[in-house]
Amino acid sequence: MNDYRLTYHLAPRQGWLNDPNGLCVHDGEIQIYYQADPDSLTGSCRKCWGHFTTTDFRHYTDCGLAVEPVERFESHGAYSGSALSLDGQLHLFYTGNVKEPGDHDYIRSGRQHNTIHAVSQDGLRFDQKQVVLTNADYPDFCSCHVRDPKVNPTADGYEMVLGARTLDDEGCALLYRSCDLQQWRLDAVLRSATKMGYMWECPDLLHFDQADVLLCCPQGLKRQGYRYENVYDNGYFILHGDEARTYRTLDHGFDFYAPQTFLDPRGRRILIGWLGLPDTDYTIPTKTWMHALTLPRELRFEDGRLKQRVIEELRPGPALTEAVKQTKAPETFVLKACPQGALTLTIDGLKLVYENGLLTLDCSQCGAGRTRRHVELDKLDELELYLDVSSVEIFINDGEVSLTSRCFFDDSVRNVAASCNFTLYQAPRIEIESR
Ligand code: FRU
Repeated sequence: MNDYRLTYHLAPRQGWLNDPNGLCVHDGEIQIYYQADPDSLTGSCRKCWGHFTTTDFRHYTDCGLAVEPVERFESHGAYSGSALSLDGQLHLFYTGNVKEPGDHDYIRSGRQHNTIHAVSQDGLRFDQKQVVLTNADYPDFCSCHVRDPKVNPTADGYEMVLGARTLDDEGCALLYRSCDLQQWRLDAVLRSATKMGYMWECPDLLHFDQADVLLCCPQGLKRQGYRYENVYDNGYFILHGDEARTYRTLDHGFDFYAPQTFLDPRGRRILIGWLGLPDTDYTIPTKTWMHALTLPRELRFEDGRLKQRVIEELRPGPALTEAVKQTKAPETFVLKACPQGALTLTIDGLKLVYENGLLTLDCSQCGAGRTRRHVELDKLDELELYLDVSSVEIFINDGEVSLTSRCFFDDSVRNVAASCNFTLYQAPRIEIESR
């Protein structure tokens, strides 16, 4: 069966995957957890945490499920969260989702979003769980949607950001602080001066030398021209005190959501996203597994914005072609080009066009219902594209702009053609073994 399996991305052996969770380094290994539901292709109410580890981003161990929602305070899912490694112990913070029986809209009532602290030595099983915040602890102006804690160490303790929806249907993030990981005190409400959607999911707070950046996924942004074309956006604000300003979309493709970052042992800020998006009107035709994580990307803050580049461990291998304008290619490759102006690039039914300051990703001939996505761009100097069977990640102008999408082709040979010279390189390789 052609199930469109990716070859150099992390994906579940079977069943469902969504957000990356708990990214950190513990016991000398990089821990990559994710929202998992091995028994479902649609992501039911029983969200668990799946788990991969690696030391080099090339060899991975699939460790199976690390967290399962077995307690009453998480009865409808161990939702997204983050991890901290401290003195040989791994601390997780995540949302215990509870849906109370009865007649509820589950926005104003009937839902509990408990912030849970779980501890483990080995990172493999988390049986010690404790609720540190409940809906009663969140500010009165919040609805019952307060979730996805991201915890960071600070100079004098710990900070935690939570995504929230207010009773007035406005997205914001709550910033808590703690000295001991047990008692959490609300320190600030991070919000935009004008409403930016009704809910901010999966926040992450990044402290660069030049700026503090709030990464989050605002739900409910109205489409404005070529902006916010997806059902839910993903992006970042620059923080000025408590005020979240200058929002920018991070990735403009069809399938990107809930990115999370961590600092790796070399001090790099690494981002992994969900190569997927909830509640879309397009589909994924895979039969045994659903969704994947994006390639790990190194984040930099330059010229007032975030830039992303695939980490060097997963850079392309040797060249497969000379500089050409047309070639046949395998199902996985990396393409590089320096168009310096207008561009038309086709990979079978996938089309990337740049003209008159507008970049268009056209998946209408290979996208299981996907159509077109756009980005306004002053120039297109440089392009790097990672194709992996049924996914594409495109980085423009040294990672200033990215577009991530699923794309589905019928056979195993790709016809690649462009209006400028391009070179194909061997795709990165990874190995995954089961624990
Ligand atoms: C984002 C999200 C999170 C939630 C999780 C549940 O995709 O909705 O807000 O914690 O997925 O799986």
